[in-house]
Amino acid sequence: MCGIVGYTGFEEAGNIIIEGLKRLEYRGYDSAGVAVNGNDGISMVKTRGKVEVLESKVRENGGLSGHSGIGHTRWATHGQPSDVNAHPHMSESGKFAVVHNGIIENYAELRSELSSKGITFLSETDTEVIVALLEYYYDGNIKKAFMKTVSRLQGSYALGILCADAPGSVFLAKNKSPLIIGIGAGDNYFASDITAFMSYTRNVIDLEDGEFAELKPDEIKVFDCLGRKIEKEERRITWDVSAAEKNGFEHFMLKEIYEQPNALKQTIEPRIKGGRVVLDDIELNLKDINRIVVTACGSAYHAGYAGKYIIEKLCRINTEVELASEIRYRDFVMDEHTLVIVISQSGETADTIAAMKECKGHGAKVFAICNVVGSTVAKLADYVLYTWAGPEIAVATTKGYTTQLAAMTLFAVWGASQLGMINEETEREQTDELLRLPAVAQRTLDLNTSVMELAAKYHEMKSLFFIGRNLDYCVALEGSLKLKEISYIHSEAYAAGELKHGTIALIEPGRLVIALCCYNRLFEKTMSNIEQVKARGANVLAVADVENKKVISEADEALLIPKVNEFFFPILEIIPLQLFAYYVAKENGCDIDKPKNLAKSVTVE
Ligand code: G6P
Repeated sequence: MCGIVGYTGFEEAGNIIIEGLKRLEYRGYDSAGVAVNGNDGISMVKTRGKVEVLESKVRENGGLSGHSGIGHTRWATHGQPSDVNAHPHMSESGKFAVVHNGIIENYAELRSELSSKGITFLSETDTEVIVALLEYYYDGNIKKAFMKTVSRLQGSYALGILCADAPGSVFLAKNKSPLIIGIGAGDNYFASDITAFMSYTRNVIDLEDGEFAELKPDEIKVFDCLGRKIEKEERRITWDVSAAEKNGFEHFMLKEIYEQPNALKQTIEPRIKGGRVVLDDIELNLKDINRIVVTACGSAYHAGYAGKYIIEKLCRINTEVELASEIRYRDFVMDEHTLVIVISQSGETADTIAAMKECKGHGAKVFAICNVVGSTVAKLADYVLYTWAGPEIAVATTKGYTTQLAAMTLFAVWGASQLGMINEETEREQTDELLRLPAVAQRTLDLNTSVMELAAKYHEMKSLFFIGRNLDYCVALEGSLKLKEISYIHSEAYAAGELKHGTIALIEPGRLVIALCCYNRLFEKTMSNIEQVKARGANVLAVADVENKKVISEADEALLIPKVNEFFFPILEIIPLQLFAYYVAKENGCDIDKPKNLAKSVTVE
């Protein structure tokens, strides 16, 4: 995710900010920039690439002089990674500069409104509207312009702002993106994450959503959303730096599991307007398509598998799922009426890219679901739906996968509406349910303690099975992969109805079977499978929704997730399985974030 950092005090701000940006590098980024407020107004240097590149650019420019400043590492969302799209962004006259973490959802409306007033924009970002608004509303009163600007913004933001007329001051605003103030001695700091300034101070103030602040070297003023000055409590950070990078979580994987509600929100909310799914910039007419082929690797393939069930159900288009490493060498039959959906978190997986090129060569149109803006997959695709989950650090994907599921679901609802398969009322019901998902994902995380206890009980198992039907089977595939990847325990996922054709021979007393029973239409059938394995001595851990309490008496252990629409539960159902894999691996002392033999982005065949 983007990182922001800022300083005001007696030191050269540029040096402190570049040091802070280096400490934010672990978050992942594609460009970096810094602006300082000096004697000659605001000066700025920014670049695509690493902070090291920024540092040498600053040196080439003769350094930056000024005692207050703002800096940014960008993870592209709107517009490719490039020098011009990098932050900070400056207003036309150079009076204001801004760094922004988050997404301004109504930027397109604001941009056209401001363009019609003659304001020009340099970048493709959502952020640039902020400085344009500031300059538009500014009549000498910064606080007024600042509050008016923020009142026009919808979406998420942590903002750091400089105004050439107020050297020594840095202005901050926060809504749904992290922002923390560091209290120094004769100087003050802010950042999206305390690691940026932890070597200077551990005394902090947390800004809450809707609050503003003005930092000066010897003063911190915080205001509520109505502009009234408020008193804030200070707290002292006691974590070490590595814990701080992980926001207090022991591993990136756990942090990312907990980031899922917010990641889902970022994927879903901007795509729903007035009860409809709106996929901006995707001019694809599904009426021209008679077949969909989904291709991907690893967890992304599993997201595609679930997508197949949802697309077929909602859009009634024949949908196949193929491993990218297989499709690239098959004499696959496809034409211009085939839509290929490519799913990739990184956008750089070699097999996925090769498969995509192969399909394009056959005349198919390619629709990508991808997390990394400007990645190879995004560049090669005809259409891209970004997941906007933020960077994933842990090798085993979690939020990358659930946001891919969310994106597939958005696609299916959008497609069904376009094809007239659902009416407005049904679309509204589906979109309302999609909008509820971040909150119910948050509630699902309450299973954490129960899952931890189950992991402590079962972590010594040598082999186990995951079973499920329909969408539950897709989740079984991913649950099994998660466990294998990080705990190195053998497991297999089976379509529950297939058990009787062989696998049941391996069920013996004490064998753990994880039964996924959230697909209500086939609940009773899966219950029968539970009975069959129990009759052979298996221990059954079942995951069902809260309304299917019958599972409690049938299984040895039960984890109950909130009830949601029949297509959306995989997003919730995987959460306890991610936690289970995590705690089993932890019990067994495995290197969770960097499992042996695996890589985050597999750029070789
Ligand atoms: C690697 C990762 C998996 C991921 C797969 C596909 O194997 O370890 O977590 O699912 O690559 O990656 P992609 O970036 O294309 O989604």
